Amino acid sequence: ASYDTAGHAHFLVKEIHEQPTSVERTLSGRIDQRFSTAHLGGLNMDAREARAFRRVKILGCGSAYYSGELGAQLIEELARIPAHAEPASEFRYRNPVIEADTLYIAVSQSGETYDTLAAVQEIKRKGGKVLGVVNTVGSAIARECDGGMYLHAGPEISVASTKAFTSTAIAFALIALHLGRVHDLSPADGRRICAGLKAIPDQIRQILEQEKVIADLAAKYSGHEGMMFIGRVRGYPVAREGAQKLKEVSYVHAEAYPASELKHGPLALIGPDLPTVAIVPDDELRDKNLTAMGEIRARSGPVLMVGHTAPDPKLAEDCILVPKNEPELDPILLGIPLQLFAYYAAVALERDVDKPRNLAKSVTVE
Ligand code: AGP
Repeated sequence: ASYDTAGHAHFLVKEIHEQPTSVERTLSGRIDQRFSTAHLGGLNMDAREARAFRRVKILGCGSAYYSGELGAQLIEELARIPAHAEPASEFRYRNPVIEADTLYIAVSQSGETYDTLAAVQEIKRKGGKVLGVVNTVGSAIARECDGGMYLHAGPEISVASTKAFTSTAIAFALIALHLGRVHDLSPADGRRICAGLKAIPDQIRQILEQEKVIADLAAKYSGHEGMMFIGRVRGYPVAREGAQKLKEVSYVHAEAYPASELKHGPLALIGPDLPTVAIVPDDELRDKNLTAMGEIRARSGPVLMVGHTAPDPKLAEDCILVPKNEPELDPILLGIPLQLFAYYAAVALERDVDKPRNLAKSVTVE
């Protein structure tokens, strides 16, 4: 098939704009209203088997790994099963212990990333159960897994992943809900998450309406040689993916740190030349995040806050506000403005947006 940018300047911005509908497709037919759970027949796993897992290990590369970090948090929070994400490219080289009571989940947009495929094969060789969260139907990773979920996000052409990242996070929310409801997630919490998921497409539309403002901010900050991205717990994978996106498409150096780690080293970098993007949801860690922003401002570091409520203007020069959902689902929405930010920084710097230098859409070699 051939695809075009449908009137957009690049595939990247087209795919960012597709997200309300690509998320709807990921959710379609998967929310079970009656039992406030997710209906996921493709996992090939009955409730008894789902209850037996003691741990979850998520594997992927690059943005797929960062979406796995969001997924691990969702699974721990909603299902209370210890869950961890690791780069598949590291996992496969360290002779990992494969356990029968661990559920392995491989994440890949293309389904062809060699390191992820090799990790899946190694787990299977040693008797582990692997599910795939994959966008491309019939791809190598999808075929190798014991079951899983297709994202149905549609073809992603731009090298930088956006809609597949968001749909992967949605897929993990569904898996977490499903596992939670056979462990100890209450029906009321199940209903709360179902309603939150259904609200996401419209909330993404609301964020996309701020495109012009975000484009202006991106142009303003793209003049700097580097940027810091900080977040805590739920905000940290969002910061990591935001930094990854900016690096990939604008070539501006970007580093992500847990806000709590700033004082353990990177604070030495902070000054007027290094702006920080601070991911600050309205949650129990908001005050701690505001303290970190104060430490940055005290050293004249510019701060762009992405969150739910504008702070004291002394703490952030600029601010992008997103609609609030349930705390567990908020990271999915907080990531959307960072995609637009990276895109417009790349446009301002006249980069090769859809095909950044040195990168391939899927890395099918070692
Ligand atoms: C995403 O923006 C990157 N281009 C890259 O990190 C990508 O996510 C990674 O190579 C994994 O690809 P996959 O999802 O197709 O396996």
